[in-house]
Amino acid sequence: MNTAKRAVGEAAAARVEDGMRLGLGTGSTTACFIEALGRRVREDGLQVVGTPTSFAAERLARQHGVALATLDELDALDLAFDGADEIDPALNLIKGRGGAHTREKVVASLAEQFIVLADPSKIVDRLGTRMPVPVEVVPMAATPVLRRLERLGATPVLREAASKDGPVVTDQGFWIIDADFSGIDDPDALDIAIRRIPGVLDHGLFLGMAHLALIGQEDGSVWELHPK
Ligand code: A5P
Repeated sequence: MNTAKRAVGEAAAARVEDGMRLGLGTGSTTACFIEALGRRVREDGLQVVGTPTSFAAERLARQHGVALATLDELDALDLAFDGADEIDPALNLIKGRGGAHTREKVVASLAEQFIVLADPSKIVDRLGTRMPVPVEVVPMAATPVLRRLERLGATPVLREAASKDGPVVTDQGFWIIDADFSGIDDPDALDIAIRRIPGVLDHGLFLGMAHLALIGQEDGSVWELHPK
């Protein structure tokens, strides 16, 4: 396993206290956190409960012995931990490479503190320069949504599955359009514009949500980034 991801996973798990209600994110960096958290549950007797952001996070949490609860059972969360695909200086994010951004946004929004777990490759000066914005759509609306995203200046493509013929189907049974904007000048305006398109469930821009980012380094150290 990658040293930077393991270091950030351990640093995140060390922040968890007895009795906390946690958001469990999706992706390879958060997987290191869930594994480290499971170790603390087994070895230190830590008592926590987590809400997963995907089937993947749910399976991983069960595998590592982390107790789970739904949002019907928890009215708020203490900490939510999740990865990111791009992080700008204000800690605005692009998420959704793993197709889990809709649930991830719900869970992050309910946490007192949303902590991003990443390595330095995710840091950018401007959002949208390296990654497209994933947009989750109702399947019957995919073509009109593609056209509307083009009118907003994107080059949009329907995300195709790697081990199945046809589109990626999300945990909600929806499809994903990856909208490449080659750099986003006004993320707030784009957030509103994409949300207004009928047939869009949610998109991968996370603006003003993250309180802190833990950035793992190859030497095993972990840097803290605060929003600028
Ligand atoms: C999942 O949909 C994404 O939002 C992930 O959180 C993001 O892609 C980070 O994944 P890695 O930690 O694997 O880079």
